[in-house]
Amino acid sequence: MPRGKRILLGVTGGIAAYKSAYLVRELRRSGTDVRVVMTEAATKFVTPVTFSALSGHEVEVDLWSMNQTTDSNIGTRHIHLANWPDLLLIAPASANTIAKLTYGLADNLLTTIVLACRRPIVLAPTMDADMYLNPATLENLTRLRERGFFVVPPEEGEHASGLEGPGRLPGVESIVRIVQTVLSQSHLDLKNKRILVTAGPTVEPIDPVRFVSNRSSGKMGFAVANAAALRGASVTLIAGPVALETPRNVQRIDVGSAEEMHKAVMRHAKKADAVIMAAAVADFTPARRSAEKMKKDADAKDMELRLKPTADILQSLGRRKNGVVLVGFALETQNAVRNAKAKLERKNLDLIALNTVDDENDPFGADTNRVTLIDRNGRTQKLQPMPKFDVANAILDRVKEFMR
Ligand code: CTP
Repeated sequence: MPRGKRILLGVTGGIAAYKSAYLVRELRRSGTDVRVVMTEAATKFVTPVTFSALSGHEVEVDLWSMNQTTDSNIGTRHIHLANWPDLLLIAPASANTIAKLTYGLADNLLTTIVLACRRPIVLAPTMDADMYLNPATLENLTRLRERGFFVVPPEEGEHASGLEGPGRLPGVESIVRIVQTVLSQSHLDLKNKRILVTAGPTVEPIDPVRFVSNRSSGKMGFAVANAAALRGASVTLIAGPVALETPRNVQRIDVGSAEEMHKAVMRHAKKADAVIMAAAVADFTPARRSAEKMKKDADAKDMELRLKPTADILQSLGRRKNGVVLVGFALETQNAVRNAKAKLERKNLDLIALNTVDDENDPFGADTNRVTLIDRNGRTQKLQPMPKFDVANAILDRVKEFMR
């Protein structure tokens, strides 16, 4: 642990609150200055006196309390406390506090501090297995991760209620290890790397108001861009038309057609260390684009639309690769692994992320996905169904190996 660091520990309500006492002791042993903020609910499980004695500081609970050492901080104490630490750790983090943080509520001292805090924030979600596995909690944690919160995965095991499953507070060592990683900035493992990501569909115009396109939502590519930026990479995102917000610290370039995407990628790929093509680029585009809106005749029968192939962006990148790591996506409904491997070879890729569409998995527009990663050495890694943000990190772990 880097010495002389300051950690603000938020303790929320839960039976595991007593374990945070050991956490304070361990953090102080490694030379860290620790201050504790408790929620009202946490004080029902452990008294502030315990944390006060262990941390050597007065424990803060009440947003409105006038009982502080320096009167000058009255009314701005949350700002003062938000600026004090090098890192804010919330352990245990209850389902209720996690939900409040997701929606930016500021109804007690701890949640108010979190809103004002610009330092790294680490959460240790701790609750009964059923509460943890509730889609509301899982979705909230995904949102928080996407926003840059660090989440310590809870442990599996028996709960005070008798239930078995995930949701237990991990051991003090695991939490301290993550705190160390964040403080020493080793989570910024893609720093100084330039990553180009494409996302979304392309739209191929038929006339000024009509187009041919596909169902891609862009979520996968945006998750890759977001995860790479959070890991310190300098990220350029070339996006087809999607209804998504630009992730923080990502340079976004909007394009329409496959041709526009092709030009934008070629312009930016020269400077990139890795190109991740998550976009669903149209393979065909109308052979002729009508300058005027096409009219239907009164006696209109069938209409034929002639399509011509688009240039394969990945394939052109693969032809003059020059040390750039290339990642493609494949979507298959049959002979999935064999087809994906053939695509990897044909386009000279380092890695391909294979989406399988079947009765159990429809990746379009979903927040989760089931993906198999196949690399140029033939290594096949079947990932569990997981949030697209986690899939993105798994892809980036592999990209990092190839960048070495
Ligand atoms: N791709 C591309 N340029 C295109 C078409 C696709 O760069 N004109 C990229 C996509 O971004 C994706 C991968 O190539 O990373 C998908 O390859 P593609 O051959 O289009 O596979 P599918 O879309 O799965 O289509 P098909 O199976 O018909 O080949």
